[in-house]
Amino acid sequence: MSIRIARTTLTALALASLAATAAAQGAGKIKVGLMLPFSGTYAALGVAIENGFKLYVQEQGGKLGGREIEYVKVDDESDPAKATDNVNKLIKRDNVDVIVGTVHSGVAMAMAKAAKESGTLLIIPNAGADAVTGPMCAPNIFRSSFSNWQPAYAMGVVAAKEGKKTAITLTWKYAAGDESVNGFKEGFEKNGGKVVKQLTLPFPNVEFQALLTEIAAAKPDAVYSFMAGGGAVKLVKDYAAAGLNKSIPLYGPGFLTDGTLDAQGETAQGMLTTLHYADGLNTPKDNAFRAAYAQAFKLQPDVYAVQGYDAAQMLGAGLAATKGDFGKKAELSAAIQKAKIDSPRGAFTMSKAHNPVQDMYLRKVEGKENKVVGVAVKALADPARGCRM
Ligand code: PHB
Repeated sequence: MSIRIARTTLTALALASLAATAAAQGAGKIKVGLMLPFSGTYAALGVAIENGFKLYVQEQGGKLGGREIEYVKVDDESDPAKATDNVNKLIKRDNVDVIVGTVHSGVAMAMAKAAKESGTLLIIPNAGADAVTGPMCAPNIFRSSFSNWQPAYAMGVVAAKEGKKTAITLTWKYAAGDESVNGFKEGFEKNGGKVVKQLTLPFPNVEFQALLTEIAAAKPDAVYSFMAGGGAVKLVKDYAAAGLNKSIPLYGPGFLTDGTLDAQGETAQGMLTTLHYADGLNTPKDNAFRAAYAQAFKLQPDVYAVQGYDAAQMLGAGLAATKGDFGKKAELSAAIQKAKIDSPRGAFTMSKAHNPVQDMYLRKVEGKENKVVGVAVKALADPARGCRM
């Protein structure tokens, strides 16, 4: 009997040590959970992020940290009500090693909560929710994109420099819209402007007519709007159809005109926006990225593609340090935190709260491009209010 117990124990020990060696050597495939919108107003954004992520992995021969990658995909529909269930499918049912997602701030906040509870690594390739690199910040949560505050603050500074004194804001009523308005207001009012009215409509509603009538009557010096994807296309077209673009400039973070110019056409010409990416950067890194992306997907890349590409670069930097081992959590996190990411947007570093510290470009729509005009704010770091880490 005692011999049998000893044998069983030995076998168990041998198996455990084999498993440990395999993990240490990074054997087996890495499971990446892609939680993104593949339907609805942000569908094109989700596709661009996935394409960008996969492009970087392909460039590395299909491996990060010496391990092959496999993907599990969930369409989150940009629906916060379904977000907790969706992210738990990836964490608990599919047992993913890392979650990459998402676009919508409300969904991302539910993902951050679940990631914090389970300890699963989360890389956010778009959603700007200030909270995830603010009060919800955590060692296992990173962002490859921006905080809602960043491009909004930069646009506020630019609007004031353009001599505008009054502005009306027009956004969707959810975290991204609210935070974007707060950032704009901060930059604008610090530099002598005044936000005189804040208009909102529920996400993803695009019935702008009554709001545009109100703007026409109030005649502010400028309008600032956070809209993206299908909503951005519709707003820019409706704004021009109402004739407002002739008298009151429509400003926004670059989401208003990124990945949307084919559909907006003439109506977007001349628009000024701020963002951490632009067309015409003409750097070797960006030129190579754009050529590779166009060849792989028969599409021009946009800011979302860049953010997906950089999410993969960040994961790669972490896994290079741990040789593909997700068990070495502290080392993985430290390696991503101190990485300098060679992004198509220009190299960036991570803030202590795990958000990119990056230049905010001023861009002007010319034809089908958001042409870089200059740098609105250099090396802008999110203030990370409320992050204790
Ligand atoms: C967000 O919800 O944070 C969001 C969505 C789309 C964008 C930018 C931010 O283009």
